[in-house]
Amino acid sequence: MCGIVGYVGTDHAKEKIIDGLKRLEYRGYDSAGIALPIDGKIQVRKAVGEIKNLEAKIASPDFDAPMGIGHTRWATHGEPTELNAHPHLNMEETIAIVHNGIIENYQEIREWLATEYGIVFKSETDSEVIAHLIGLFYDGDLLEAVNKAVAEMRGAYAVVAIAVDEPDKIVAVRKDAPLVAGIGKGFNFIASDIPAVLKYVQGNIYLIENNETVVLTKDDIVIYDENGNKVDREIYVVDWKADSADKADYDHFMLKEIHEQPAVISETLMSRLNPDDSIRLDDISLTKEDIDNFNKIYIVACGTAYHAGLVGKMVIEKMAHIPVEIDVASEFRYRDTFIDDKTLFIAISQSGETLDTLAALRDAKERGARILSVVNAVGSSIARESHDVFYTLAGPEVAVASTKAYTTQLICMYLIGLYMGSTRGTIDKDYYNYMLGELKALPEKVSRVLENEEFLKNLAARYYFKDNVFFIGRGLDSGVSYEGSLKLKEISYIHSFAIAAGELKHGTIALMDSESLVVALATQDRLYEKMVSNIVEVQARGARIIGMAKEGRTEIEKTSDEVIYIPQCADEVAPVLAVVPLQIFAYYVALERGCNIDKPKNLAKSVTVE
Ligand code: G6P
Repeated sequence: MCGIVGYVGTDHAKEKIIDGLKRLEYRGYDSAGIALPIDGKIQVRKAVGEIKNLEAKIASPDFDAPMGIGHTRWATHGEPTELNAHPHLNMEETIAIVHNGIIENYQEIREWLATEYGIVFKSETDSEVIAHLIGLFYDGDLLEAVNKAVAEMRGAYAVVAIAVDEPDKIVAVRKDAPLVAGIGKGFNFIASDIPAVLKYVQGNIYLIENNETVVLTKDDIVIYDENGNKVDREIYVVDWKADSADKADYDHFMLKEIHEQPAVISETLMSRLNPDDSIRLDDISLTKEDIDNFNKIYIVACGTAYHAGLVGKMVIEKMAHIPVEIDVASEFRYRDTFIDDKTLFIAISQSGETLDTLAALRDAKERGARILSVVNAVGSSIARESHDVFYTLAGPEVAVASTKAYTTQLICMYLIGLYMGSTRGTIDKDYYNYMLGELKALPEKVSRVLENEEFLKNLAARYYFKDNVFFIGRGLDSGVSYEGSLKLKEISYIHSFAIAAGELKHGTIALMDSESLVVALATQDRLYEKMVSNIVEVQARGARIIGMAKEGRTEIEKTSDEVIYIPQCADEVAPVLAVVPLQIFAYYVALERGCNIDKPKNLAKSVTVE
């Protein structure tokens, strides 16, 4: 979503800010802007669309300074226009701010500022009030003015401000929106996300905590807590070389990330296995007593991570015999849930910054739940606020459509299920060993699925023009159907819909006709016959069928127009193999349709607003 980069140093701030914003580009945005103090004035340039449009407007060598702030905006309050793009200024144009998050009481503040002080607003955004508030309170000390402004604001924010009268200083503040400071030599950075600054600061950053304020000059970074006391923060060192994601020889990050799956699945799995095949959770403090004490698990997540949770629920219930509820975080937050100290709350998140998931986690924590998060981004808010973290070792995922994060999340679900099951004595040694063998075989089997790329590309070429695609499956396949459907709709913009196959006849089958395409997953041996009956039902309505089954299950060819085969495997791990062809299919359909695959319209990689 929105990205923030601020730089204070000795020269060419605009280059570093633009470079940082580009590194956050993949998260999604629709306009961008930059503010620099030049010759006693704050000068702002903004552009709608890609960052290159902004670059064209700041090319002149006269537009430069040793410090400044920049922003990529993903519209929430007000259309993606230049006026609504950040940075925003106060009336006198002496203060500039960029903001991520939402100011919930902005209407109130707006009315107050307009009536009491005659302030005229230029944009429709909630963010603009911040610039005016700071302007109102400014009396030569930006830190003090920011603190006073913050006292008036409700909501979630990372705000970065500059003042024309203090052109060597950046002041930033955070509440429920990520913020990091990059520690340089003779310069410093402030940013919403680590990748924006990593390269310049060799991985040396400060993670800014909630309600903290930071003052940056070129030689110093001072962090204050909410009471104004200086905070002694340890440097957080990120492996910056590993994080420097590039596309290698692939046309898109998504395709590269799909192909990385055998390696990252292996990494996530093997990092958790001891030489004797016992599961190593030494950094996770769950004891046998804790595990025996749980009588309920909630899995809460959004988007693709939620789909990993759908599989996780079935796997954990099967292996650990504990009831598992799964919910999307935006719903979980506002319903009456039954949480106490016998509840294990599992948050799943690639970015570790999704606001709804974070808020749900905080709520569950406050009510006594034990929090285990499954997160990809090291040091993210969700990771930091959890009691324990199970990291997916997927590496940086850049494409908005999540692929390798999903399959590594599934690996974590299996490991959690197996660990809890063996601790509780609900699975026996034979089953445990069998499942571990199945898990260890996955990287090689995923590689075999990837060898089918040409076939899937041809399949996409035959069906890319469809307007409606349905994904159906039973049991674990139904969870994968949701993910397959999401992949297709988010990058190709085709309307797609996923439903548990047994539920078809309760409504959705009314939509089936000769124009429909149905992707029918039949990888679950136990439910195979039932699934074939469902395929026959839609076939009878004239729909085209792409079936999916394990190798050797050739009967499916009788009822399907096309068949995708996945390698033989235990039903439990089939989701890892089944999702990969669906990712590739979605990729090539989107390619045929000329879509912007890595950055689909209207979507953001990390959703940090409600
Ligand atoms: C956005 C992304 C999805 C992602 C979801 C949850 O919608 O576009 O790819 O699955 O957020 O994100 P998280 O980082 O919490 O996994």
